[in-house]
This record gives sequence, C-alpha cells and structure tokens, in this order.
Amino acid sequence: MRYFCIDCSYIYDEAFGEEELWIEANMRFDDIPDFYCPNCEAESDMFQPIIEEVLYAENPQKLSDIEKEHIPHILHTDTREVEVSIWVEVHPMQEDHRIASVALYDEHGDMIEEHLFEVDEDPIYAFSVEDLDSFELRAYCNEHGVWSTGIIENELIL
Ligand SMILES: [Fe+2]
Repeated sequence: MRYFCIDCSYIYDEAFGEEELWIEANMRFDDIPDFYCPNCEAESDMFQPIIEEVLYAENPQKLSDIEKEHIPHILHTDTREVEVSIWVEVHPMQEDHRIASVALYDEHGDMIEEHLFEVDEDPIYAFSVEDLDSFELRAYCNEHGVWSTGIIENELIL
C-alpha cells in the first residue's frame, strides 16, 4: 500500500521502502516505529492510506460533475509533451482536500512519472510523452481517490 502525507504530498510506498530513513522495501507502514515524513518531518498521524482503486469516466463523452472535477484534462500538446491540468479553480487545493498528484502511466498500467502538488498550487503539469504510442493520465485526490483518463493514443492528440 501507499501512504500520503497530507502536509507536503510525499508518498510512502511500502513496495519500495524509503532509503532516506533506512527503511527496506516491503516494510509495512504500520510496522514502522516512529515513522516521520522524510520530506517535511510530519509525524505518522499526518499520513493517510491511498485508495488505489482507479476510477474511469462512465461515459467519456458526457462527464459527470465529480468526473469533471477529477479526471485530468489535456490543456496543450505538442510532439514532445502533453500538458495536463485538473480544471483550475474547480477542485479545491486545501490540505484536507486537494489534487495531491498527477501521474503518467504507460499502456500496461506501469507508472512512468508522478508529480506531487502542494497546497494552493495550481494543479498543472507537463509530461514528456515523446517515446510513447499511448499513455494514461491519473490524478489522485486525497478525498475522492484515483481518477484516470483511460488509454490515450498519442497519434490522436498530436
Ligand atoms: Fe476531490
């Protein structure tokens, strides 16, 4: 499982551990004594488990309000990168409810890059997609979970 620091958006991933804290891979969060955030030093009670279930639009042609608020929206593309946002000014960016990250996945569902957002930051980020035929974008809301665009064919958006 992964755990999210609501203070700074750092993510502790049990599968990888944390080198900076000398925590080995596959160490369960609940088994770590005196865990603190390696990024902002928040204590373990500032961490919440990430709901990993990925949510997709029921009908991509007609998004519901909550889908519009959470599914990454492509602002701009060129041959090298795709700039995405969660509709600015629509979703809160507060400590207890914000878009905490956006991530780029390949067509097999493997994460290529994840970008973390801080409180009050505009949730906009540009990913390099030059070498990908297709990809998927996911946004993580610390209240509403993980939301995906589904697979996007690169040639269709360039
Ligand atoms: Fe949300």
